Amino acid sequence: MAAHSRIEFGDFQTPDALARDVCRTLRRLRIKPAAIVEPTCGIGNLIAAALDAFPSASVGSAADLNAEYVATARQRLEPHTATARIDVTQADFFQTDWNRWLANLPDPLLVLGNPPWVNNSQLGTIGGGNLPHKENVARVRGIEALTGKSNFDVSEWMLNALIDIVSERHATLAMLCKTAVARKVLTRAWSEKRRVKSAQMYLIDAAKSFGAAVDACLLVCRFGTAAAVPRCDVFANLTARDTCQEFGFRDGRLIADTRLYAKWHHLRAAVPVRWRSGIKHDCAKVMELRRQGNRFTNGWGEVVELEEDFVFPMLKSSQLAAGKTTGTDRWMLVTQRRVGDDTGAIRQRAPRTWRYLQMHAERLDRRASSIYRKRPRFSIFGIGEYAFAPWKVAVSGLYKKLVFRKLGPFAEKPMVLDDTAYFIACPDEFEADRVTAMLNAGPSHEFLSSLLFWDAKRPITADALGMLDLAQASLASAD
Ligand SMILES: C[S@@+](CC[C@H](N)C(=O)[O-])C[C@H]1O[C@@H](n2cnc3c(N)ncnc32)[C@H](O)[C@@H]1O
Repeated sequence: MAAHSRIEFGDFQTPDALARDVCRTLRRLRIKPAAIVEPTCGIGNLIAAALDAFPSASVGSAADLNAEYVATARQRLEPHTATARIDVTQADFFQTDWNRWLANLPDPLLVLGNPPWVNNSQLGTIGGGNLPHKENVARVRGIEALTGKSNFDVSEWMLNALIDIVSERHATLAMLCKTAVARKVLTRAWSEKRRVKSAQMYLIDAAKSFGAAVDACLLVCRFGTAAAVPRCDVFANLTARDTCQEFGFRDGRLIADTRLYAKWHHLRAAVPVRWRSGIKHDCAKVMELRRQGNRFTNGWGEVVELEEDFVFPMLKSSQLAAGKTTGTDRWMLVTQRRVGDDTGAIRQRAPRTWRYLQMHAERLDRRASSIYRKRPRFSIFGIGEYAFAPWKVAVSGLYKKLVFRKLGPFAEKPMVLDDTAYFIACPDEFEADRVTAMLNAGPSHEFLSSLLFWDAKRPITADALGMLDLAQASLASAD
């Protein structure tokens, strides 16, 4: 299969050993299906292992889009036809009426599989069309999925669709998927009050089994009477008996560590606190510069002289995470003070800077994000008076380290941050010291840790930070 189609169809067949381990784990959970369904069965490794592991199942039903795989799976499942009624169908998941398909099968039902691990942006890059109809996506995920703003996985859509159907049955869903996808589908199921009786997540080594550098798991979700308190137990591997984490759904949001949250939930802000992110320009080679005296070097090594008016010392997220916050040799060209400011004014005030921007105008005009459209030329985002506050308390969103750092002026100018950092602007150093100490103290740290998933691409988010009530946290850290 060509590399492109392999990506488009998320075609990474589950190795036999992993398929057997998955079924062993399900047996340990005392799952005893009467029917087994595999909606994207590939060459049939998982369903074959399941039919071996669960002699209680008298029916097996599998499907895949790929005709060759369907033929191989049929042969593979041949030995099982003596004990179970098996059908393997060539079908596109997105064209299939799963309600009707599953209606013919007896409970308890086990729907297991390993749906394609491909997301809409990867499909966009390769021009793939393996997607649900847009109107269906809209129903499931809202406008974000259509605008491509959210990174939604094909498997996420498949799992949501299956949960909508099987949650009304005596059924178990057991799926290999990315941990991020597992959390998203569980969050949706909990918030939409599907009848989730229990949920477990067993971490797997995706690099070993699929050569994929992603955090992945076996998600096991049982449906019936909904659990009074929605939670998911996480296990370090398929054979672990003790949980390494327990996440859940509390007060309308996903909670990474329910025990810590139970301890500190009184620190949750009634109205979210507004954390700011650093400056977004999407053109580091032009806008981020190294300084030597009055000369600045851009990302191509070009040396230019620029007026002082529009250049500011900057810290990158990596410097922030490393604690290098007292000085910097990096500077940023900051073309506006507020979103939408007329950048034409630069021409009069700083002709050399204007010339530099003109030299690279084409590159700046080509920035892909739609936020730059219909905006003044050379626009940037993440600006407002807060960006120019002399004192800030900041944290990097990219690193797995919840440490807040105080930033002060450098070379008599406020330091600015890149758009992967979050901060609170402070009027003076005294306040910045106070806020830094309070955020790094035990109560704030534990409360925020209860909300953060460290395996996420950007583990620290403005949304999670905003949940901490700063006044309550001050009181708690003073205790
Ligand atoms: C990650 S592989 C897993 C295969 C199998 N479930 C296993 O565990 O070995 C994903 C499978 O999904 C199939 N697939 C991709 N898009 C599909 C679609 N729209 N409908 C049905 N099957 C699809 C691919 O052909 C591939 O066999």
